[in-house]
Amino acid sequence: MITFDESTQVFHLHNQQISYLMSVEEGNLLAHLYFGKAVSHYAGERAYPRRDRGFSGNLPDSSERDYSKDTLLQEWSGNNTGDYRVPAVIIRDENGARQTDFRYQSYRIVAGKPDLENLPHSYVVDDSEAQTLIITLTDTALNCDLALSYTIFDNWAVIARDAKLINRGSHVLHIEKIASMQIDFPKQDFQVISLPGAHARERQVERQEVGHGVTQFESRRGTSSHHMNPFIALVHPDTTEFAGEAFGVQLVYSGNHQETLERDYIDQTRVLAGINEYDFDWKLSPKDVFQTPEALLVYSDQGLNGMSNTYHHLLRERVARGKYQYAKRPIVINNWEATFFDFDSSKIQEILNNAAPLGIEMFVLDDGWFGHRDDDNSSLGDWFEHAHKLQGGLKEVSRQVHDKNMRFGLWFEPEMISTDSDLYRAHPDYALQVPGRGKTLSRNQLVLDFSRKEVVDNIFHQMVKILDNVKVDYIKWDMNRHLTEVYSAALPADQQGEVSHRYTLGVYDLAERLIERYPDILFEGCSGGGGRFDAGMLYYFPQSWASDNTDAVARLKIQTGTSLAYPMSSMTAHVSVSPNQQTGRATSFEMRGDVAMSGVFGYELDLAKLTDAEKEIVKKQVAFYKEHRQLIQYGDFIRIKSAFKGNDFAWEFVSKDKSEALLFRFKLMSLAQPEFTLTKMAGLDPKIVYEDEKGHSYGGDELMSIGFYDVPLEAADWTSKVDYFAAKERA
Ligand code: GLA
Repeated sequence: MITFDESTQVFHLHNQQISYLMSVEEGNLLAHLYFGKAVSHYAGERAYPRRDRGFSGNLPDSSERDYSKDTLLQEWSGNNTGDYRVPAVIIRDENGARQTDFRYQSYRIVAGKPDLENLPHSYVVDDSEAQTLIITLTDTALNCDLALSYTIFDNWAVIARDAKLINRGSHVLHIEKIASMQIDFPKQDFQVISLPGAHARERQVERQEVGHGVTQFESRRGTSSHHMNPFIALVHPDTTEFAGEAFGVQLVYSGNHQETLERDYIDQTRVLAGINEYDFDWKLSPKDVFQTPEALLVYSDQGLNGMSNTYHHLLRERVARGKYQYAKRPIVINNWEATFFDFDSSKIQEILNNAAPLGIEMFVLDDGWFGHRDDDNSSLGDWFEHAHKLQGGLKEVSRQVHDKNMRFGLWFEPEMISTDSDLYRAHPDYALQVPGRGKTLSRNQLVLDFSRKEVVDNIFHQMVKILDNVKVDYIKWDMNRHLTEVYSAALPADQQGEVSHRYTLGVYDLAERLIERYPDILFEGCSGGGGRFDAGMLYYFPQSWASDNTDAVARLKIQTGTSLAYPMSSMTAHVSVSPNQQTGRATSFEMRGDVAMSGVFGYELDLAKLTDAEKEIVKKQVAFYKEHRQLIQYGDFIRIKSAFKGNDFAWEFVSKDKSEALLFRFKLMSLAQPEFTLTKMAGLDPKIVYEDEKGHSYGGDELMSIGFYDVPLEAADWTSKVDYFAAKERA
């Protein structure tokens, strides 16, 4: 899969689907040549076209006027040596110089994929699945090595990249910036798709031209955030869901991130992704090593669906881990939107009595069971049971849940501390804070300094006390505010720029310790909804709450945006009350069910308040979901019509062998004199005859080429329809 041609100095990483080419250019600069559809042979046509250009300097100590770092397409750019584009790395030497200039030294190829220490990453199960090229570049003046790692998987259009800095000299260096990856693309028209959002409006799809100058997407909030997901896709103006090229860049990281594009003066486009340089300054003492997070690059020549499909398989099969990686995820009833903080044993018993006969499989006790938490003003950090709320305590709740043949889930918010808590009274320094300054509250809580091991240990031991005593089958790990006063009492002045990355490493450390100790617990990530929905968290927790917004119409967009980069098995979606608590919009029970059933399904409402007719609907939804759960959670997901354009849209799930498919269609606003719109299915076997639930037969080719008219079932806003097709025979 990986070759190096000594005579031309060209590296070629390739499989059946993609090729990635780079070369060692004059001056030992590592040049980027090509990333795209697989080629079997490279004759050298992408070699750097030399030209003397004004105001683009030449290599240091060279008088060759037609060779400039300012226009050379590179794999890794330095700082302050004649490449004026955004650099991949900035290192400050002891003398204050901020010049970095890494040149090629050597390479090695290893079978499989080495692990990234203390960081989430994609992996192989067998070394035959992938090969990894590790290229060493050196900045001789800094006496610093850079190991650039490129993994190519045998059957996916994916390159996994990361970088590692090693200080081999005697100076203390400071890393002011380091990307996980860089690619410089030759001139072409690019647009960029990003996933901006907000709390309760996560991952909206935005597509814009890549103009001259710098286009940047980032989070400075201490987490990957609702506001900008660590994922972008570069596409051409004619790229659609089904056709054209798409280049995905996704970070396996949950902290401050930065994705940068720069279109230069001759229309070449540089792409960088990594830890955000904002507030970052890492001290690299002699012999120290700094490992960047991983970036996952995906190429598709079959449009955005092709790219998403690759990410779905990659994240599900080679990033997520553990017992629940492929397991059927249980249908949940969560008490949050039913009771908020106001629950007691009898209310919970009532929820259980209602849930069990409907076929719901797991009860999740949300916020409010610990400390003296009766509202959101206290007790974070005190992970011991609330003294008065639950008769017989959590053990008794767990017993009651298991008696009903259901599983028991519990909510934690491990990274937070309330000023009204025993933990804060004992250790006020455990909260992030800048000496002599005020502490910014958000939801009336502070953030624990997870860059400190003793803080992470404290929370771990408190959680263990509960989890060793109570039978818990699931944990919802929440995170309900962003970081401020990013400063640690435990670090010296010259390492304060490390706090936010160290915080993220602390989160990963606690998550790893918990999943290792409790392999039977299913973990769900959450951050005020989908505020930390990223591949980093997915390495520890196979699913995440997609949004606090459970409004079916809003969820169409949120789930569509999320599906660009993340598999449906990672996305939890619940039916809640109507009118919706976030948007005030009233939608039918059916529509809410159909949207929520497109992910990992559950309910988040007071079942006791449902009418008998609604309970019948719930029973049907639960039964339908159980019947098709495997297909929804582990089948291929295809976006048929976009939730961001038009009035009707559709998505589809197809099994791997194409023997069954589910088509979900949604209509937004009701129209008098409605237009006749068509939906055509995709991804089926044209030669299979499929049968729907009414016993009608259709050819696979017919469903894909002829399709259906989307005639609304009723004259109402926000309607939905689900059709199931199973293979009857081969034509
Ligand atoms: C966050 C979560 C909700 C719920 C509350 C509890 O907002 O997203 O689902 O758990 O916290 O405080």
